[in-house]
Amino acid sequence: MEKESFEYILPCRFGIESVLKREVNDLGYTTLPGSDGRVSFIGDAEALCRASVNLRTAERILINVGTFRAETYDQLFEGTKALEIERFVPEHGAFTIAKAGTVRSRLFSPSDIQSIVKKAMAVRLSEKYRVSWLPEDGEEYSFRVFIKDDMVTIGLDTSGASLHKRGYRLRNAAAPLAENLAAAVIMLTPFKDSRIMVDPFCGSGTIPIECAMIAARKAPGVNRSFRAEKWGFIGKELWDRAREEARSLEKSSIEADIQGYDIDGSVISAARENAERAGVDSMIHFQRRPVAELSHGGSFGFIITNPPYGERIGEEEELKEIYASLGRAYRALDRWSMYVLSSFDSAQKYIGIRPGKVRKLYNGMIKAELYQYAGEKPGKKRPASKAAHER
Ligand SMILES: C[S@@+](CC[C@H](N)C(=O)[O-])C[C@H]1O[C@@H](n2cnc3c(N)ncnc32)[C@H](O)[C@@H]1O
Repeated sequence: MEKESFEYILPCRFGIESVLKREVNDLGYTTLPGSDGRVSFIGDAEALCRASVNLRTAERILINVGTFRAETYDQLFEGTKALEIERFVPEHGAFTIAKAGTVRSRLFSPSDIQSIVKKAMAVRLSEKYRVSWLPEDGEEYSFRVFIKDDMVTIGLDTSGASLHKRGYRLRNAAAPLAENLAAAVIMLTPFKDSRIMVDPFCGSGTIPIECAMIAARKAPGVNRSFRAEKWGFIGKELWDRAREEARSLEKSSIEADIQGYDIDGSVISAARENAERAGVDSMIHFQRRPVAELSHGGSFGFIITNPPYGERIGEEEELKEIYASLGRAYRALDRWSMYVLSSFDSAQKYIGIRPGKVRKLYNGMIKAELYQYAGEKPGKKRPASKAAHER
């Protein structure tokens, strides 16, 4: 099975498909034409191990077990039963249908879809293993079903815990940002590891930690496990090799000056602990500091941040002052860029500066805007007026 090729489906947050495609391409794989919220590519077992260990922005990696058309539950049953599930699930495998989602399709009830797919798989496996009862007391095999325009795709989850769980964030601030979204935001900016990056609302440190990991080429998955490691059909040596390859590319120091500030001293201590677990504590300077005191003597730096936005913490009046302080601090910085991820509707109004670009992203189920203020690049001649700072 190790030399066989599979189609891998990588669900991701809406709005970051381009970043994930770039990551897959950088690993040496060609992506297939995709759709919103997912990226796909073809690869062998080694590709799965390398992608699991290295990808920063995917939610999880599924093996596409089969795609077929179904407009009725009978067709869903027969289509599923025709799939060679026994290639993956052994006689004792415990198989579940973790999730079903549908878009513009005749079949729309997730719970009915889940139970029909499970039943069809059980019938197929009982026939193949010539048993009347499947014990399901072995390793777990979890499937996800997507139906779009009546086309059913069944994916086998190889990741287990979502890939945003790198294992370093054991202490959280209120409203922490998912690690893969923080990485995606950084990768949407032109941040280079020779530059300055400050997160003035760093909370549990996710943005500075992901930034340091990117700068130090630390792969996000080297210190965690993946569900597919427990299955017999991918050899341990392939997983070991993927981790060794990733570790061999790590840098022990970085040029970037990365800083994380927050008004709350307890979250700063959480951020420090998280950074230590991620192995990047020596690369980040964390400090308790309110945004009103944000300053930096350097030029051409980046603010990349996720301020309070009022859904879970903070209120309008307080937010007004916080965003206004951020705007004032940014104006005083010398030729910096700023990227602000926020779900606060009046963020731009109170920052008081018109962004060059606004990108829609999703922070969990919450729609958020990434306000992008591109600053100057080092080495470029300075224009007479600083357009990014115009209201
Ligand atoms: C949305 S959370 C940031 C979450 C962070 N990205 C993470 O992953 O943990 C916003 C943070 O802003 C901090 N904060 C609130 N008011 C502040 C202020 N005036 N100055 C600096 N930080 C502030 C809060 O303590 C909180 O940790």
